[in-house]
Amino acid sequence: MSAKTGPVGVGFIGTGMISNTYLENLTRFPDIDVIILGDLNVELAKSQAEKHGVPQWGSADDVLAHPDVEVVVNLTIPAVHAEVAGKAIAVGKHVWSEKPISVDRQSGRDLLAQAEAAGLLVGVAPDTVLGPGVQTARRAIARGDIGEPLSAQTIMQYIGPDIFHPSPEFLFAKGAGPLFDMGPYYVTTLIHVFGSVERVAAMGSKSRTTRTIQAGDRAGTVFDVEVPTHVSAIAKFVDGGVSQSVFSFDSPLARMGVVEVTGTEGTLIIPDPNRFTGEVKITRAPEMAAIGQDPVWHDVEVTGVYAERGLGVLDLARAARTGRKPLASGELGYHVLDTLVAIDESISDGRMVDVESRVDRVPLVAEDFDPFAATL
Ligand SMILES: NC(=O)c1ccc[n+]([C@@H]2O[C@H](COP(=O)([O-])OP(=O)(O)OC[C@H]3O[C@@H](n4cnc5c(N)ncnc54)[C@H](O)[C@@H]3O)[C@@H](O)[C@H]2O)c1
Repeated sequence: MSAKTGPVGVGFIGTGMISNTYLENLTRFPDIDVIILGDLNVELAKSQAEKHGVPQWGSADDVLAHPDVEVVVNLTIPAVHAEVAGKAIAVGKHVWSEKPISVDRQSGRDLLAQAEAAGLLVGVAPDTVLGPGVQTARRAIARGDIGEPLSAQTIMQYIGPDIFHPSPEFLFAKGAGPLFDMGPYYVTTLIHVFGSVERVAAMGSKSRTTRTIQAGDRAGTVFDVEVPTHVSAIAKFVDGGVSQSVFSFDSPLARMGVVEVTGTEGTLIIPDPNRFTGEVKITRAPEMAAIGQDPVWHDVEVTGVYAERGLGVLDLARAARTGRKPLASGELGYHVLDTLVAIDESISDGRMVDVESRVDRVPLVAEDFDPFAATL
């Protein structure tokens, strides 16, 4: 709990592609004051600061040394997420980290222990699941609209981020691939619905050993693919429920954001967990269509205030002032990582893998949560 009042001071480390959407939002939330941007590439930090009206820029060390920065937003690449977050904790800052929290279990655990000892908070993306889309779906499940959730299937398949990202190498390196890059959205959503994962089994494949950058200044550059680019995974949850998921950068047929949860009374469509909102629909058991017929769909009214990336930073900043845990907590981020690593191990070892960590059920976002309200 902090005695400070007024907006929470925020500094960014990493001002690449995704920093735009964070900056567009965090500079509009009255409870947040974006003070400084830092990057290895100081010129990039400067141009992003000028574009988004942030008064200061510099290196990562400049952000860490800034006395008014209370929360560091870590938007670096996965391989250095834990290292950068650890440096921020060491100088007394709370940390929001892009996903995944780390690329291996040990450094993820060490980071949470370091934060706990220092009395500081760690929050981890995705925060999409805090938006009206997934939250409306969760409220429908909590009301019993589909009965007891039993199973789920998720699909994320397309040709891969080498078609649009100007520096896609990290997305095909350890700590990324479709499993670690896109898996957090789907696995986090499944954990929101079913709770902790108990055990996984998976198979994976790689269509090509190299890829070619197709966008930006370095288009035509060939780079190595280090990780499976197609993953099929099955999970069993501690409190009951099973899921099957496809994560693929190998499919010319794009099918994204498919999340279907089936309960004892019906099937619920959860909108794309990489987005903050979308349609929520239910088809119920007595009306379920016979094979070959269209199902009867009921729209669930989507409620909640819409905003984009940055919601989790805002929740973390408010939590830091009141002393509660953030909704997108480090513990949740670690359980997601633990599950993803277990899936990866299942692929390489050819066996089912138990997931050791557990996470508390994630509370629903308060109905009156308003990112545009000044509360501090
Ligand atoms: N691009 C997207 O659409 C997207 C969407 C959601 C989440 N993310 C996540 O956001 C993170 C960043 O992705 P991106 O697409 O913005 O990558 P990017 O490569 O465009 O930007 C990363 C930035 O971090 C900087 N950086 C790297 N190591 C650093 C260090 N030690 N200190 C200071 N700066 C450092 C780099 O110089 C670069 O500017 C990743 O974890 C990614 O998974 C990206």
